[in-house]
Amino acid sequence: MNLNKDYWEERYASNNLGWDIGSVSTPLKEYIDQLENKNLKILVPGAGYGYEVVYLYNSGFKNIHVIDLARQPLDKIKAKIPEIPQSQLICGDFFNLENQDFDLILEQTFFCALNPALRKNYVQKMFQLLKPGGKLAGLLFDFPLTLKGPPFGGSLKEYEELFHPTFTINVLARSMNSILPRKDKELFFIFEK
Ligand SMILES: C[S@@+](CC[C@H](N)C(=O)[O-])C[C@H]1O[C@@H](n2cnc3c(N)ncnc32)[C@H](O)[C@@H]1O
Repeated sequence: MNLNKDYWEERYASNNLGWDIGSVSTPLKEYIDQLENKNLKILVPGAGYGYEVVYLYNSGFKNIHVIDLARQPLDKIKAKIPEIPQSQLICGDFFNLENQDFDLILEQTFFCALNPALRKNYVQKMFQLLKPGGKLAGLLFDFPLTLKGPPFGGSLKEYEELFHPTFTINVLARSMNSILPRKDKELFFIFEK
């Protein structure tokens, strides 16, 4: 299966959005709520309908950037936040982003949507995109990785092995405030460059 732009555009066009929870998830909301510096330059890759993007924006974070392969979800985010500059809503491939200056990157069901063969590239690209001291934070699924997906799973041990050589692992643990359908199926993490 080729998880390319056409694949994701078709998922949106046919409203086949199993991942879409319709609002900002509790773990991300609570993480965002304790961030004090509203000037942080934040990236949300593979944001989909971007509920956390809207939540961030309405919480006073204006330096938010989104990249998604698919055009349809970006149009939806623009409709929800008309004031956000179009230049902050990038339609393109995360792996082609060239920035090196994000303070924070938020992860939710983007990692699991990628072909697992790209996991090492994901780690390296995230590292490149962050400033020194910058953080990659969010949620990773905790169920066995099989050939079936997306979503593709993984375990705490696999994620530790994957991220540890590159990032400092500040937090990687069972999420205690997951939404009910994801209870005991996801890990909350904060990795630092
Ligand atoms: C499973 S959805 C998750 C959407 C959102 N994070 C959420 O939780 O509702 C994965 C998203 O990643 C996007 N995507 C997949 N591969 C991508 C890539 N290489 N670069 C940028 N976006 C990508 C898809 O278009 C889709 O919007």
